[in-house]
Amino acid sequence: MVKIGFVGCGGIAQEHLKHLRTINDVKIVGVCDAIAARSRAFAAEAGAEVYADPVSLYDKAKPDAVCVAVPPFAHGAIEEEAAARGIHLFVEKPVAIDMAVAARVSGAIKRAGILSSAGYCYRYCDTIDTARALLKGKAVSLVTGAWIGGLPPTPWWRRRNQSGGQMLEQTTHLFDLVRYLCGPVQEVHAMVSRGCMSRVEGFDVDDSSVVVLRLKTGAVASITSTCIINHPGRIHLDIVTPEFTLTLNNGTVRVEEDHRVTEYRSECDKYAEENRAFIDAVRTGKKNGIRCTYADAVKTLQVTCAANESAETGMPVKL
Ligand SMILES: NC(=O)c1ccc[n+]([C@@H]2O[C@H](COP(=O)([O-])OP(=O)(O)OC[C@H]3O[C@@H](n4cnc5c(N)ncnc54)[C@H](O)[C@@H]3O)[C@@H](O)[C@H]2O)c1
Repeated sequence: MVKIGFVGCGGIAQEHLKHLRTINDVKIVGVCDAIAARSRAFAAEAGAEVYADPVSLYDKAKPDAVCVAVPPFAHGAIEEEAAARGIHLFVEKPVAIDMAVAARVSGAIKRAGILSSAGYCYRYCDTIDTARALLKGKAVSLVTGAWIGGLPPTPWWRRRNQSGGQMLEQTTHLFDLVRYLCGPVQEVHAMVSRGCMSRVEGFDVDDSSVVVLRLKTGAVASITSTCIINHPGRIHLDIVTPEFTLTLNNGTVRVEEDHRVTEYRSECDKYAEENRAFIDAVRTGKKNGIRCTYADAVKTLQVTCAANESAETGMPVKL
């Protein structure tokens, strides 16, 4: 039996619960949320106990692992207290709001020798496996990507000191895929625009951004984001090599070559795969199936923190 706790019982926690319930011998033993009514409703659905805070959950329900599904600003002590008790960690992306918190938690995970997994769910898509295989040994020259969307409804999202802004909170998935598919980032230069969303109360994140990356391989990338539209948006990544251009779009991979276009459609549920990999690791103690550890996720956080810093200073940031 694998005993799981939840800290944070909002939207993404519901998604994880849905999948964990389908895995044999997994029991949700306890949950807690800053909003008591939310933890009660979630606990009722999960057949779990409610706890007032993470430490009571850890000490009384004694989970083997905890799913931390809180907004960016709330990370830190939740993970450190779990690590200190040898409780394995699944942490939603972005794993922290800044590098100082991330460094503290990384240290705690290392000292405790626990397993960690971060919620970069796209890494679990079958089509991302296909993209990785196709790109192996290829010289990537250019990457262009975009996250063109509207304002998410969660109230913390529009506040810079709670979400870290769109690059850090949302487009982080694309920055992570650039790293996962094309290798490490060396330099980051960002520009942002502000002022179109003044009608939205409490909105103090950027409206739109353009980030230029230099990868360690020498390739260049540009990742653009906006959260101001009120019509269906799009999320995509184009990876350009001398042999083909590979486009990721809604889980589909499209490969365009001279005289040929091939499409690969996803046949898996990335959240199901991500949860299964984590539970398998907790059950067996073997971490091979985990595609993004906490430490790996911190490297993606470093890129988005550098983008925020560059937007403020106007200067490129070397990593
Ligand atoms: N991987 C993905 O595809 C994906 C999708 C959605 C959200 N997320 C990430 O998951 C995180 C949560 O997003 P969400 O959409 O579920 O938000 P949400 O607002 O729906 O849920 C977050 C919950 O955390 C609770 N909370 C806040 N501070 C807390 C604390 N200190 N202790 C306990 N509970 C606390 C809130 O009350 C809320 O119920 C975000 O970082 C987001 O980026 C990831």
